[in-house]
Amino acid sequence: MSVNGSAPIFALDSLASAPRERLATGIGELDRCLGGGLVPGSVVLLAGEPGVGKSTLMLQAAKGIQAAGSKVLLICGEESPEQVAARGQRLGGSGDLSASAQTQIGQIEAMMQAFDVVIVDSIQTLVDPDMGGEAGSVAQVRSCAQRLVRKARSEDTAVLLIGHVTKDGAVAGPRVLEHLVDAVLTFESGGHNLRTLRGVKNRFGSTPELGLFEMADTGFIEVPDASHLFAPTWADRRGAVVGCIVDGHRPIAVEVQTLVMMTQSQMLRRIGQGIDQSRLGVVLAILDKRAQVKFAGCDVYVSIAGGLKAQEPGVDLALALALAGARSDKSLPKGYAAIGELGLSGEIRPVRSMDSRIKELKRLGFTTIVVPHGTPVASGVELVQAKEISDVQKLLE
Ligand code: TYD
Ligand code: MG
Repeated sequence: MSVNGSAPIFALDSLASAPRERLATGIGELDRCLGGGLVPGSVVLLAGEPGVGKSTLMLQAAKGIQAAGSKVLLICGEESPEQVAARGQRLGGSGDLSASAQTQIGQIEAMMQAFDVVIVDSIQTLVDPDMGGEAGSVAQVRSCAQRLVRKARSEDTAVLLIGHVTKDGAVAGPRVLEHLVDAVLTFESGGHNLRTLRGVKNRFGSTPELGLFEMADTGFIEVPDASHLFAPTWADRRGAVVGCIVDGHRPIAVEVQTLVMMTQSQMLRRIGQGIDQSRLGVVLAILDKRAQVKFAGCDVYVSIAGGLKAQEPGVDLALALALAGARSDKSLPKGYAAIGELGLSGEIRPVRSMDSRIKELKRLGFTTIVVPHGTPVASGVELVQAKEISDVQKLLE
């Protein structure tokens, strides 16, 4: 049906089709963040700081997609095709991929029809001659991206755009692009060789997912078992307690390490790595007021082993017990871990996905878990149900 030659009006049900088959990259951690692979005709932005490994990850993805039978073109605006080929050698060959140093948007549009997937490295190097300004300017980035989105739809070609961000995220590129593209993945360094990939927007996916990689000499290695990476030792240590966060759908056990030192200085240090600095302040205040554990005259250092960010309330209890242990030179008994959020009155509260956190800790060999009162019993692991932080202090020995 149409009204006077205007755009037709559709009954939506008549347009509903079977879910599109996705193009898997074969890299499980990446495919999960994409919601199961690339949707043909969609445009995905991969944003990250220079040097984090965007080009490396995309080359590995390109090889995977090509190996599964789709045709991939790499647009090399940042580096010459020779440099890209050299990186390919380091990754064990470039697996029959095609590359071009073309950066004129019109020429790229003309090439798209012949490929299932086009990877653009980077969007900041493309040029639309019809627009003013230099490559990388807001006007250029926006115009080139808009044209790529249109062409991706009409040719059913999936496009992966690499975009640079600086530490403060200020550069025009990715911010301008976020609402134009179908999905945005951010790639960040999580300390050492660890890289975290996050789906921050996805028109074709469900909830945000987390992907984890380790950078090795031969490119990225997936980290499917994150808990072992972040708490490899599980040693009983004074001032250290194991907790469990959930990132995306993924439970990850983390060791919260703390150090408390007497100081003569008037300027007390409260340093938290991998945890929210203001949350550290709140937990110290709760310990002081509700459990009589005092930190006046002390410097406090907190770190999440392995460099992961554990910025969620589920680690409050592990953090509080680690700090209380560090203050009194005690620790939880062997095989103990803790899950729960702390309220300002010192009460211990449940957090989402309690059961998957408990299962994860059990899988890693923990025998006893301190949990909020009312947590349903779990088989094969003992739960210590606690209402208040002051109740669990006495577990420290
Ligand atoms: P790169 O993918 O070029 O980063 P980006 O495109 O985000 O700027 O990779 C950056 C770093 O990764 C570089 O300093 C070298 C290192 N690297 C490895 O450690 N192992 C490898 O196999 C490769 C290809 C790179
Ligand atoms: Mg690069």
